[in-house]
Order: sequence, then C-alpha cells, then structure tokens
Amino acid sequence: MKPFKILCLALLVPSILSAQKNPATKLPQLGKAPLKSVVAAMTLEEKVKLIVGMGFNIEGIPPGMLPPVDPADNVAEKVVGAAGRSHAVSRLGIPTLTLSDGPAGVRINPIRHKDSTKTYYATAFPVGTLLASSWDTALVKRVGVAFGREVLEYGIDILLAPGMNIQRNPLGGRNFEYYSEEPIIAGNMAASFVKGIQSNGVGTSIKHFAANNAEFNRMNLNTYVSERALREIYLRGFEIAVKTAQPWTVMSSYNYINSTYTSESKDLLTTILRNEWGFKGYVMTDWFGGKNAVAQVNAGNDQLMPGTTIQTKEVLEGVKSGKISMEQLDKNVTHILNIILKSPTFKGYKYSDKPDLKADARVSRMAATEGMVLLKNNDNTLPLTGTKSIALFGNTSYDLIAGGTGSGDVNKAYVISVDKGFANAGYKVDATLSSTYKAYITDQKAKRPKPKMMFLAPEPIGEMPLSADLLKAQANKSDIGVITIGRLAGEGGDRKEADDFNLTAVEQTMINDVTKAFHDNGKKVVVILNIGGPVETASWRDKVDGILLAWDPGLEGGNAIADVLSGKVNPSGKLTATFPMAYADVPNAKDFPGKELPGQKSTNPLMGNPAEVTYDDGIYVGYRYFNTFDVKPAYEFGYGLSYTKFDYSKLKLSSDNFKGKITASVLITNQGKVAGKEVVQLYLSAPHKNLNKPESELKGFVKTRLLKPGEAQLVSFVLDARSLASFNTATETWVAEKGDYKVKIGASSLDIKKSEKFSLANDLNVLKVHKALAPASEIKELTK
Ligand code: BGC
Repeated sequence: MKPFKILCLALLVPSILSAQKNPATKLPQLGKAPLKSVVAAMTLEEKVKLIVGMGFNIEGIPPGMLPPVDPADNVAEKVVGAAGRSHAVSRLGIPTLTLSDGPAGVRINPIRHKDSTKTYYATAFPVGTLLASSWDTALVKRVGVAFGREVLEYGIDILLAPGMNIQRNPLGGRNFEYYSEEPIIAGNMAASFVKGIQSNGVGTSIKHFAANNAEFNRMNLNTYVSERALREIYLRGFEIAVKTAQPWTVMSSYNYINSTYTSESKDLLTTILRNEWGFKGYVMTDWFGGKNAVAQVNAGNDQLMPGTTIQTKEVLEGVKSGKISMEQLDKNVTHILNIILKSPTFKGYKYSDKPDLKADARVSRMAATEGMVLLKNNDNTLPLTGTKSIALFGNTSYDLIAGGTGSGDVNKAYVISVDKGFANAGYKVDATLSSTYKAYITDQKAKRPKPKMMFLAPEPIGEMPLSADLLKAQANKSDIGVITIGRLAGEGGDRKEADDFNLTAVEQTMINDVTKAFHDNGKKVVVILNIGGPVETASWRDKVDGILLAWDPGLEGGNAIADVLSGKVNPSGKLTATFPMAYADVPNAKDFPGKELPGQKSTNPLMGNPAEVTYDDGIYVGYRYFNTFDVKPAYEFGYGLSYTKFDYSKLKLSSDNFKGKITASVLITNQGKVAGKEVVQLYLSAPHKNLNKPESELKGFVKTRLLKPGEAQLVSFVLDARSLASFNTATETWVAEKGDYKVKIGASSLDIKKSEKFSLANDLNVLKVHKALAPASEIKELTK
C-alpha cells in the first residue's frame, strides 16, 4: 500500500470506530433534544415497548398461569422484588423506570440472591385506614416524606400507592389499604401522602381508579353504578388528589364500570381524568388488568403493566391496521416520557440502599399513636396509671398484625408486639401466660394449611382455650386484663360476616371468661382491636371497661399501643368509617360483593368468573346512609374519645347569605386535665328541592394542635360553591340548590356541638361536566 493511502486510512479509522462505538451521538437524546424529536426518532417497536412493561414473575403463582414474558426482558432486576419495570430505549437516552408497591411501605425482597450479609428491609408504616383516622393531613404528609426517602434510597422511581378506593362495605378485603368511606377524607389524605412522597423527587400512583371496592372476582366484576354516585362518591376523592397534588401516575382498576373495563374507558381516563381534572402524568393498568390492549391504548391508558408479549403483539398490530392512530400512540409515549424526565433514574441519582430505618421507625410509631381510636373508656380505666402488672390475652397480643397481606404488605425487619411494647414501657407482663401463648402460636402456625398462593392471607389461628384455673390465677396476680382481638386481610379476597366481622365463638368466650374472672376480683379489662376494617362490637362491648382501636399500626405497633394506653400520648384518632351494630345494617350488605353470572366460567382461575354488582345504594354509602335513614351504628363516622374533654363555642359564619364563599369559625377549648388534640368536623345539611340529599355531609375537618388544659384554639373552615353542590345527572352539572343550609360543627357525625344557618338566594350551577360513564339503563337507587 502506498504511504498516502496508509495515512488516509489511519486518519479515517478512528472516526469510523468512534461512530460505531457511539452511534447515538447524532440521535436526539431524552432531556437534551426537544421531546417531540425524541418521539419522532423512536421506531414503532420502541414506542410499543415503552408503553408495555417488562413483565414479571409473581412468587407462588405456578408457571403457565401468567402470560409469557419476552426472553429478552429476562434481565437482572435493579431492585429485586419490585413489582414492575418499563422498557429502556438506550439509543435515545430513555432509561428503565422501576415501580414498586405499596401503600404501607416499600415492598421489595429483603434478601437478594440468598445473600443475607446485606439486607433491604423497609419500614412498615401504619396502614392507610389508621393514617386517615388521624384526620391530620400534615401528619400524613410527614409520613409520606419519610416513606418517599426509602423509595428514593432503594432506587425506585414510582411507588404504587396510595390506595384510595372508598370503603363501601366493611368486608372489603383491601379496606385497610384505603382511607375512608368519605371521599373528602380519601381525597385529602391521598393528596397529602402524594405531596409527601413526591417531595423526594419520586413518583406515586394513586389507585385503583375507580370503583374498585371489593376483591371478589376482581378482574371480572362488572360494577353498575349511577353517574351521580360515581361523581359524588367514587370519583370525588381521586378528583381532589389529582387537582391538589398531581400524582405522577394513576393506576386504573381491574373492574368494569357499567360494562367497560376502567382501563379501556376513554370516558374515565381521558374525558374525566385528563380533560376535566387536568391530570398531567401517565396512567398505567393494574397488573394484568383489562383484556383489550388496543382499547386500553385508545382510552388513554398509557402503560400496560406489568406487560406481556401478547400485548406487545396486539398493540403493534393495532397500529399497523390503523385501529390505533400514531397520534394516540405518540400521546401515550409522551405522557410516559414526561414522567421519565423527572425520575431519579433519569437524573442519575446515586441511591444508597441505606435509608434511615431508625428515623423512619420513629415516624411510624408517632403516626401510629395519632390514628388509634379510643372507642370506650368507662370510669377512666385508661390511661393505665397505677397499673403495674398486666395479664395479656389473645394471639395477636404476642403476634401483632402490623399490616395486611398481598401487595399492601411490607418486608419489615421486625414487628414490636403488644407484650414487647408493654415491657418496653415498664409494665410487667405475666411471663407464664406469655410463654404459654407463644408456644401455642408456634404450634398452631406449624399445623395450619399453607395459603393457596403465597400472596393470600393465611387462615387465622383460633384463640387458645383458657381454663378456669388459669383465669383465676391471672385475675389474682395481675392488676388488669388486656385482650387483643386480631384480623388479617388482604388482596385477593373479601372478609366474611361469620367469624371475621363477627367475633368467633371462642373469642366471645374469651371475652366473657376474662371479664368475669377479672371483674370478680374487682379488676378491669381492656380490649385492643388489631384490625384493618370494622368488626362487630355491640354484643360484647358492654362487658369490657375500655376499647382501643389500634388498627394495623406498622412495625412499631406494640410500642405505639403502649404509648396510648399508658397515657404518654393522649388518643386523638376518630373513625373514618362507620362501625355498624350488625353487618345486616350496612345498606349494601345483601348485594356485597356481587354475584357470579350463571353458566359463565373464566378459563383463568386468577381472573375469577364473570360477575356483577349493582350499587343500588347510590350516594348512601357509610354515614350518609346511617344518618339519613336513622339507623343507629355501634360507633358512628367521626367518633373517637380522648383522655380530656373539649368545649365548642362561638361558632360564627362570615355571612348569612352565600355569595361565592362562607367562612365558619369555632373556638375549641381543652376543659380537661391533660393536653390533647381534637378533630373538629364540619357537616352541611343542604336543602333538597329537586335532588335527593343525605341528612348531612362532611365538608371540612381540622385537627387542633396539642392543647394544654385550659388552652383554646380558633379553628376555621371555608365553604366554596362546590361544597354546597350535588351532581345533577339530568344536566351533567354540579348544582347548589337555593334555600337554607345548616352548618353543623361536631365532634362526630352524630355528636353535633353547634350549628348555624345561611341561605343561598338562587340555584347555582357550579360546574358543568361531560356525560360520561353512564349506565345503559337507569339504576333504581335508594332514595329518601
Ligand atoms: C394490585 C396493585 C399492585 C399491583 C402490583 C396488583 O395485584 O392490585 O395494587 O400495585 O398488583 O403489585
């Protein structure tokens, strides 16, 4: 070769090599080039990959039951045990996002690849229902801030939480993950939680959008529900959360609403969520939710999770055949890319895998004490001043339920049981009783059948029979008897009335025998309810002296329970769901959770057979029903006791006539001997001219600061036009009807302390919306 040619080659080779090594240099890169040019540079296959997740294997589900995953996606997980991942398009600088459950703490595998020298435990925070029972949005945000830090430090981009469906029926299997039967509570709690989590620069996914109020046949349940009930009850909380907190993502639910899967509903995901509410993030399906990938894409369900090869094929074919327009696909892709741009992974955040679990445990304990509800306290049984020794009964006294099962579960390093909590607080827990219970629990756990799938809640262990001699001895030597009643629930099943909502016969016997033995000795008995949803209390509550509703309080539960029972913390939680006298009193008791359609079978047992449910209770959910139809509950919505007493005075409205806004203020004074916080609630009774109205509805709530004895706080509420309005289906408008409105300030929905009236001179059309999600035929709903 001539020297000149050699020189030319020598000059060329490095540039050829560098172009080969880095072909991306000329391609638009996410975050550097305009988003439009990145989308334009994506091939059809890349766009489809981005909107279909990378798939995953669920532990415990036999192979073949889940749809196949692309072998190319079988690459090592960045965060082992996270629920999902999105596809990367490396040549355009688009990274993989990692998505992880769940509402009570980061749910990832604590041990990776059998190497226990390094662990990845997460904090189990109190469940959603407990957090909501604090009625303290600042507290919920604070929990979110701590929790979101764990999300960030474990390398996760989006937390699949909060769960915020309405607790329509006490038996809902996932009620513990959710906040309330009241959308104003659900919406405000979710918004605060989202703000807290997202303050760390990670995302959330408010779920399950919408009307996912039961676990029964959940992927095949058709929910018939009126537009009004949807707008006022089942969508309202989501609306508040979207408008005030802009979650990065929304997760559509498994169920159908009026015969369309929510993940395939353009009405829900585009018309309402994006166009009416201004949602700016992206929508993902629930895991394997819906059936028709093309319909999902067209509805504006931007991402199909966890993603299957079948979906990839269907979407590709859908675009090629013109069933999905490129414009629609680009919209979905853009929604996802906008979120990727904000993600810690995109920003190259160097996560530590070492969140401050000690600090978060303190937040978890503090939050748990704020949401526990004191249901009963005869003759100041509580706090336990002067008590030294405790006889502790009930399995869950020694084996506390920190949270629920399924995707709401958390892999925590420990759980502080009630006995441990009491011991830490300096009480003497009877050691003989304790070791008898512990041996019994170990033995029974070894004997019980394994759940059909690892995901599902195991069978509960029956309570240990207590002999007369044992009870006599305990009542002699201990100052007080404490009984814990526990219930475990979770994804994949609803609770039952018998032996779950209602106490079991053995539990009733335990309460009878323990109270008899202790009362005969002039000693008292307190019950701790370690539950995720309401249980029957009317048949046994008169027998005991005190009841603390501790909910599922997270990993520090035992310490938090001791904090409240000892009086270190004065309880200030109140109920965000009605505790009925009997299950039959619940308006939808007969139809819940729905019924299977005769002769229709699903080929996949995971789906459940086709089934339906009609929400003929309409807007009369929870206290809206009990208070309108005068059905006496065991403990009403908003109820909760304190170790002190509060006086309500000086209720003042800013005007007698509503002109766009009214402010109500009221003075709350601590009249007792110890410091405490009060949850002050504003209910509104509206005139009913053309529309059926509940007796009253919650329109605002404030939790006071910790008030010292004698100290007072003026709290105020603002009522805007929307607070006065109900949804008029005929005109698709939120309307405030003219007439007299009564503002009721209460310590609960039935314990109204002060009220005042104002009037509205003319009907007010507050907000016109679209006709959307209408049932094919009118639903005959309960009316007053
Ligand atoms: C649950 C979701 C969860 C998802 C991922 C589904 O079964 O319904 O709440 O986020 O799984 O684990």
